[in-house]
Amino acid sequence: MKSEFLLVTDLDGTLLGDEEALQAFRLRHEATPMRMRLVYASGRLVGDVKALILERNLCVPEAIIGGVGTQIECSDGAPTDWCRPASHAWGAAPVRALLADVELQPERFQTEYKVSFHLPDALPDGLALLAERLSRAGIEADLIYSSRRDLDVVPRGINKGTAARYLADRLRIPVHRVIVCGDSGNDLSLFQSRFRGVVVANCLPELRQLDGTNIFRATKTHAAGVLQGVDYWLAQETVD
Ligand code: GLC
Ligand code: MG
Repeated sequence: MKSEFLLVTDLDGTLLGDEEALQAFRLRHEATPMRMRLVYASGRLVGDVKALILERNLCVPEAIIGGVGTQIECSDGAPTDWCRPASHAWGAAPVRALLADVELQPERFQTEYKVSFHLPDALPDGLALLAERLSRAGIEADLIYSSRRDLDVVPRGINKGTAARYLADRLRIPVHRVIVCGDSGNDLSLFQSRFRGVVVANCLPELRQLDGTNIFRATKTHAAGVLQGVDYWLAQETVD
């Protein structure tokens, strides 16, 4: 019997965006439920992802990584407060105060561990200055920038990639059996681990520079790109 693998996929712009391809993905998942263990990794908060699953009749995943990695919810009830240990030098209130000149996203997108802003067309230098402001105030944070607009500030070391690693360890799935898929900046951390990466063809420019033997660039978009990537990585499978 072939071994299981874990598919960790972003939703908006990756699994979602093409209804026909999404239906093909559903059928494939239903045909191989035991082999393809499924996790969603989104910038949306877990509650929003759950509502989306119902609304769009998405495949039910084994776990949800929400809030760009700051939340994890497993169907078996793993702790959702997984970033607490990383947050000794963190506070949402001081982050908001220190970046008060940046436009905050609506309150429904804010949590204790994710402070999100809209900052159109930010350049690396500008982001570095904001990061410096935080670190000078003793805040240990990472800035995650996506879609030339969304800026998420999170406790240092917390992101989709580290959350996926936490889940893979918990589910005892080795990194080479974890396939990760994404389209934008908040997915970068997924590709910086030793996972098998799939970048969908409709990715944003921020992922165009990604390179390395662990990256497969799909020629197809959205869920069709995800399926293409899954097939690619499964065909590379070595016996173990
Ligand atoms: C989702 C979240 C938003 C975040 C963005 C990028 O759209 O709702 O808060 O900034 O993803 O991670
Ligand atoms: Mg996306």
